Amino acid sequence: MKKVLVTGSTQGIGKEVALNFVKRGYEVIVHCSKDIEKANRIKEEIGAHQAVVCDLSNMLEVNSLIEKTGAVDCLILNASVQFKETWDKISNDTFDKQFNVNVKSTLKLIQAYAPNMKEKGFGRIITLGSVNQHRQHLELSMYSATKCAVYKFVEVIAKDLAPYGVTVNNISPGAILTPRNEGAYNDENIRKSVEDCIPMGRFGNPSDCVGAVMMLCSEDGAYITGADIIIDGGMRL
Ligand SMILES: NC(=O)c1ccc[n+]([C@@H]2O[C@H](COP(=O)([O-])OP(=O)(O)OC[C@H]3O[C@@H](n4cnc5c(N)ncnc54)[C@H](OP(=O)(O)O)[C@@H]3O)[C@@H](O)[C@H]2O)c1
Repeated sequence: MKKVLVTGSTQGIGKEVALNFVKRGYEVIVHCSKDIEKANRIKEEIGAHQAVVCDLSNMLEVNSLIEKTGAVDCLILNASVQFKETWDKISNDTFDKQFNVNVKSTLKLIQAYAPNMKEKGFGRIITLGSVNQHRQHLELSMYSATKCAVYKFVEVIAKDLAPYGVTVNNISPGAILTPRNEGAYNDENIRKSVEDCIPMGRFGNPSDCVGAVMMLCSEDGAYITGADIIIDGGMRL
């Protein structure tokens, strides 16, 4: 049975991905930042094997996460934080929070989990990027920069781990309906202005992101590494 850790899997895209790994017979570890009761609740709800908490802004916690989970076959780095502010208003605090959770913890977790995958000759690492790697959102420059930084790590690490059966890829969702953006999209004007940017004419659902993750983790994805798969209904075009 393959073992998978999905970070940020108590809601949104991460939860849907975790549920689909359970359905396919994986041993699934659910994760969130602090609330172990919430993580346990989701573990029970979807039939996962373990629930862990780890605040990804705290590198002491990040560095010891592997002690709680043990080695995994698939590492889905889905959790992130996002603050909306124009480039000239970015504070040290929001810079550091987004950098630490989105970029630094990603690198630290790959450093922790990859050696075992390499030794085993099998591993799948997937990071969650964003369509904003490819578009210019005036209030998301820092967030977008963190996603671009992660993708550069993906490319370099993918090249390094390719000879060992370990693939590393990035998935970039467009506008997906999750608790993160519920508030904003409840506003009719915002909803319409975003929808107008999507050639397919609809928002994505977390389930729209599942197929690519499952394919990359399966044998079908064995020859794909260093890729950025954009799941956005054409929004970047
Ligand atoms: N939704 C979209 O439209 C969209 C578009 C492009 C890219 N994405 C990317 O897709 C991924 C999932 O997005 P989503 O909308 O499903 O997210 P979401 O609804 O905001 O859920 C985020 C998850 O990450 C966890 N998390 C947040 N801060 C954390 C921290 N400091 N330490 C550990 N865990 C933390 C949350 O757990 P807690 O409950 O503990 O905070 C939650 O489980 C993200 O990387 C996001 O950037 C989403």
